Order: sequence, then C-alpha cells, then structure tokens
Amino acid sequence: MADPHPPGLNEEGELEGSSGRHGGILRQFWDSTIGKKIVVAVSGSILGLYLIVHMLGNLKGFQGPGGGEPEIDVYGEWLREVGSPALPEQGALWVVRAILLLALVLHVVAIVQLSRRNLAAKPKGHRPPRIQRSLASRTMLLSGLVLLAFVVFHVLQFTTATIQTTPIVEGEVYANLYAAFQEWYFVVFYVVSMGLLALHLRHGAWSLTQTMGWDKPNRNPTLRRTATALAVVVSLGFAAVPLGFWLGIVPEPTSEAAATAASGEPR
Ligand code: HEM
Repeated sequence: MADPHPPGLNEEGELEGSSGRHGGILRQFWDSTIGKKIVVAVSGSILGLYLIVHMLGNLKGFQGPGGGEPEIDVYGEWLREVGSPALPEQGALWVVRAILLLALVLHVVAIVQLSRRNLAAKPKGHRPPRIQRSLASRTMLLSGLVLLAFVVFHVLQFTTATIQTTPIVEGEVYANLYAAFQEWYFVVFYVVSMGLLALHLRHGAWSLTQTMGWDKPNRNPTLRRTATALAVVVSLGFAAVPLGFWLGIVPEPTSEAAATAASGEPR
C-alpha cells in the first residue's frame, strides 16, 4: 500500500489524528492514523513470529510416530510444561495465549478503524484514479477475514476439541492430525487457507517495511523478494503437514491412545 504523503500527515497534509480530542499520549497515538498503522505493524509482527514458530513446530509431524511417542506430542507436552515449577502449570502457555489474543484484537480493531477512515475520506461522486495494486494488496481485508474464521475453527478443532468431526484426544497431537488429514475436505480447507495466508503475509510484511519507513527505492526489490520468500516458506511449511499425512508420507500413529482416537471415542 504505497502512501504518497509523508508519515504522520494525512492526504490533506494535516497532522494525522489531530481530531481536537485531548487525552494521554497513548490515546493520541491510538487516535492518529500513523499510530494505528504502527499498531497494525507491531501486532502483525507478533502474530507473524508466532506463525513461524508454530509452522516449525508442526514440521515435527514429519518425524513420525516414534516408538509410540511422537516427537510432535513431546513438543506439545513441553509447551504445556515450560516454566514449571517456577510458573503454575501451563502458566507460560497462557501468557503467550494472552499476548497473541491481545495482538489479534488490536490488529483487527486497528484495521477496521483504518478502513473506515479510508472510506470516509474518499471523495463522493467521482472515482479516484486507479492505482495498480497487487492481488495480495487488493485482497487484504478478504484474506484477513477468512483467516480469522480459519483460526476460530482451527482452535475449536485441535485445541478445545469442541468440533469433533474426526476424533481428537488431548495430548495426542500426532494422532489428531493423522485422523483429521485422512479427510480430503480438511486437507483442501487447510491448504487453501494457507494459500490465503501466503497472500496476507506477503502484503503484510511488505506494508510493515513501509509503515516503519524502511522502504527506499534502491532497497524495495530486495524487501519485496524477502516478503515473498517469507510468505512462501511459512505457507508451504504449514501446507506440507496436511499433505504429508494425506499422501501417506507420514505414517499411521502407533500409540494406544491413537487407537482410541481411531476408534472414534471422544476425549
Ligand atoms: C496446516 C496448518 C496448521 C496445522 C496443521 C496446525 C496444527 C495445530 C495443532 C495440532 C494445534 C493444537 C496443538 C496442541 O494440541 O497442543 C494448533 C493450535 C493452534 N494453532 Fe495451528 N496449525 C496450522 C496453522 C495455523 C495457522 C495458520 C494459525 C494462525 C493463523 C494457527 C493458529 C493456532 C493457534 C492460535 C493454536 C492454539 C494454540 C494454543 O493456544 O494452545 N495454526 N495448531
């Protein structure tokens, strides 16, 4: 999203967010357009970092079922226990969850408010000149909304086990993934969602460089290539897991609880 005007100034050249409202420095920051853009950039970076870690963790699925204790299950257990006994059980996990939730809420609220400001600033009656925008840029709101729906479904499926169309057993991450990704519709749903994630991440990473003022004409081709590489690596890394289970590259689970999962017993 190329911003033709200097940071901190709006299209009219006025100080952004100078709505006349008084308040603390945080309030003024949040009210300004550049402040909201920075919130989107920082919260997006936090979510992006989580995605890189989550994708790398998921690749442990490729280490297979082990001798009844798959590496991905050991990793899941570690995530639940890290910090204990200094912290209460799952303490560190809940801190991370709280940070992620806050980042997600701020990201969405700031985007919604920025979009509404943009719409309100559009002159009525005549169409603004068409600017050449990439597919990723044009579909940011749509891909963001679909990803939001994806995350809600995904957490209800694998974390809370509220949606049990395939059996889910607590702690049996490998068996749960195996059972889900024997179903073609889950494979399609996850792989298509990762395609949208690629578009969203690519444009998000590129916009981050602009909001932070890191873009320069001589650097932009490298920045664009880096954003594309990041988006492709993260999305392919995620998509490899459902595809690996579905194509039989990753073998069947062997543990006892996995057999329970396969028998269809809910947890
Ligand atoms: C093919 C892609 C993905 C797979 C196979 C996958 C797999 C999983 C699994 C198995 C869990 C539960 C782990 C456990 O039981 O300990 C989980 C949790 C989660 N995933 Fe994913 N995931 C994928 C993509 C994503 C994406 C793209 C996002 C975000 C946009 C995401 C966000 C989350 C969140 C927020 C949790 C809950 C973490 C927690 O609070 O414990 N996942 N994922």
